[in-house]
Amino acid sequence: MEIVVSPSILAADFSNLGEEIARMEKAGADMLHIDVMDGVFVPNISFGLPVVKSIRKATTLFFDVHLMICNPFAYVERFAAAGADGITFHLESQSEPEKVIEKIRAAGKKVGVSIRPATPVSAALPLLDKIDMLLVMTVEPGFGGQSFMADMLPKIHAVREYAAERKMPLDIQVDGGINGETARLAAEAGANVMVAGSYLFRNSDAGKAVASLRG
Ligand code: DX5
Ligand code: ZN
Repeated sequence: MEIVVSPSILAADFSNLGEEIARMEKAGADMLHIDVMDGVFVPNISFGLPVVKSIRKATTLFFDVHLMICNPFAYVERFAAAGADGITFHLESQSEPEKVIEKIRAAGKKVGVSIRPATPVSAALPLLDKIDMLLVMTVEPGFGGQSFMADMLPKIHAVREYAAERKMPLDIQVDGGINGETARLAAEAGANVMVAGSYLFRNSDAGKAVASLRG
């Protein structure tokens, strides 16, 4: 499968966010991964709607918004209006997944569902034919710069097999600890959308780093 690279701006220099985004665009990134945290669903607060709205003016890249918030249902329309192209929410949130999916679809955006490391893939399987992408977290969500959890690879493999057997054109995204090596492992297991924060933004040659994630 063709690999899609989505740099996570959580690792960017926020004093130069516009330039940081331009740097990733120039480096060949396909999307921009935008981590929204509410300080309750995860023990960290990142940024929210005004930032998304303001960077929308800086690029035409696809906005891959990852909501790590308790109540995604209440925020779908506002993130869509702020410029999201795809909205990913957590299965472990308090919202009813089917309702969030419907709302994202109604807003005309791509739908992603994310599972934390402790959540088994079986919990997400009944939703796969309603969504565009499954995000298999490869770290505990909340912070950049953590180490890739290799024990998530069997989950990726199981979902890819399940989707392939049913001829579902599902994107499988991995997020957390992704670098040239771990992206290869994730791709071998069946992932095709690579999120990387620290690895891409802290690399002096972003073009080479983006290319290394494509295998
Ligand atoms: C973690 C976020 C990730 C994070 C990845 O909760 O969802 O997107 O930015 O950062 P790295 O690539 O540094 O592990
Ligand atoms: Zn993320």
